[in-house]
Amino acid sequence: MDANDAAWKILQDGGEALDAVEQGVRVSEADPNVDSVGYGGLPDRDGHVTLDACIMDEQSRAGSVACLEHIMHPISVARKVMELTPHVMLVGEGALRFAEEHGFTRENLLTEKARNAWEEWKKMSGYTPHVDKNNHDTIGMIARDANGNFSGACTTSGLAWKIHGRVGDSPIIGAGLFVDNSVGAACATGKGEAVIRIAGSAIIVELMRAGKTPQEACEEAVERIVHRQRDYKDFQVGFIAMNTKGEVGGFSIHKGFQYALRSQDRNELIDARFRVS
Ligand code: GLY
Repeated sequence: MDANDAAWKILQDGGEALDAVEQGVRVSEADPNVDSVGYGGLPDRDGHVTLDACIMDEQSRAGSVACLEHIMHPISVARKVMELTPHVMLVGEGALRFAEEHGFTRENLLTEKARNAWEEWKKMSGYTPHVDKNNHDTIGMIARDANGNFSGACTTSGLAWKIHGRVGDSPIIGAGLFVDNSVGAACATGKGEAVIRIAGSAIIVELMRAGKTPQEACEEAVERIVHRQRDYKDFQVGFIAMNTKGEVGGFSIHKGFQYALRSQDRNELIDARFRVS
């Protein structure tokens, strides 16, 4: 809701969707109490906080960073990749060097709370990455401004205790996020590997292009995971989408996925419908 407040302020002042989504998700990136995004994010199994983020605008421009360390606002680095380079995606050391060249400063993103959680995990885990219904979360945001233009942003510290170098869906255009200004936008949360395997957000946009509502499109994307990935009961995925009529939808595999909706007449946290309990 705090992220939506920041984004909504920009939209209300007549600002662009691109600025709204960037500024919105920056709120979560800076919040040490959000343990799946930015500062305070849970580290990989070696204790590194590695961040993934992407951004996409109404012109189908896109920027992305993956496995970026030490920078609190990967979404803003992703925007710089989009605006200042001929590329879409920078990773690891190269992304960090690019960020520093553009004025971002190195910070320690591993909070004491996250370090303690990692120390506890190490005692029990056998150094083995683990996916379950609760080990996930990502902030994805889509916005449509007064000119009818869409943008989207997605940012995460990814799966806690992952193998160093693992990248999920969140920085991958078409998986964690997709925007097509003539159709709408979609983004994902949950187990990134499952989302990548169905090109989740791109599929939802294509389903909307083919005539499905955002709700129907999100449900169909979840259905594809459920039909093709036998272990679906062991992990969570959730999608949200919006079309050019301003209709929205959200759906997840399991109960518990919520999304925040802000519009001229609505400001609410919605419990998404789900496939299995
Ligand atoms: N959806 C976030 C991740 O899998 O890293």
